[in-house]
Amino acid sequence: MSDSMHYTSTAKTLHWLISLMIFCLQTLGFYMSDLPLSPDKLKFYSWHKWAGVTVFLLVIARMGWRITHTPPGMPEQMPKLQKVAATIFHFALYALMFLIPLSGWLMSSAKGFQTVWFGVFPIPDLLPKDKVVGDALKEVHEALNKLLIGVIVVHVIAALKHHFIDKDNVLKQMLPSRRQVASEEINH
Ligand code: HEM
Repeated sequence: MSDSMHYTSTAKTLHWLISLMIFCLQTLGFYMSDLPLSPDKLKFYSWHKWAGVTVFLLVIARMGWRITHTPPGMPEQMPKLQKVAATIFHFALYALMFLIPLSGWLMSSAKGFQTVWFGVFPIPDLLPKDKVVGDALKEVHEALNKLLIGVIVVHVIAALKHHFIDKDNVLKQMLPSRRQVASEEINH
């Protein structure tokens, strides 16, 4: 495969880093919210919020990269309906990756708990303190996360179908390519 048929190294790095962080954030999020109030619970909330804000920044960077760098096209033999479905699912993934951390930030603001990124940088609250709004945003944050899990399951099944059944390059385009690695090794 030529390099133009691959995502750029930056796009791949952001894809896998954000995926890993979202997996960890969801695991921690569901675990911590069921814990009884304790110093550990508060510590986990802080870690979750710091990592969540970090993912928010990475997602904004990824969206900026996506807008300025054309991704490889879908396989020519792919049916039109599947191409439309893939486009809708990719849009849904970007929308959820953006809205989930934003809803967490809005929730924390409305609940009156300012986020201090890594305990150093205070992040401005987006909403005034309001318990009813804070509780509603918690439901929104949870529901969006459950929706994201569903969309990710379909995304992964589709990627595996492309690789093992259609035997095309869709999954390989997002994996490290030897040529790219080799050329980067030469450049460093
Ligand atoms: C991609 C980023 C994020 C993901 C995947 C994520 C995921 C989750 C999940 C799965 C939960 C458990 C939901 C529940 O069962 O109630 C949760 C809870 C929570 N999240 Fe996030 N989150 C993210 C970003 C953020 C951000 C940026 C903040 C705040 C700055 C935040 C604040 C919270 C808080 C405070 C809770 C606990 C809610 C409660 O129990 O009262 N999250 N998150």
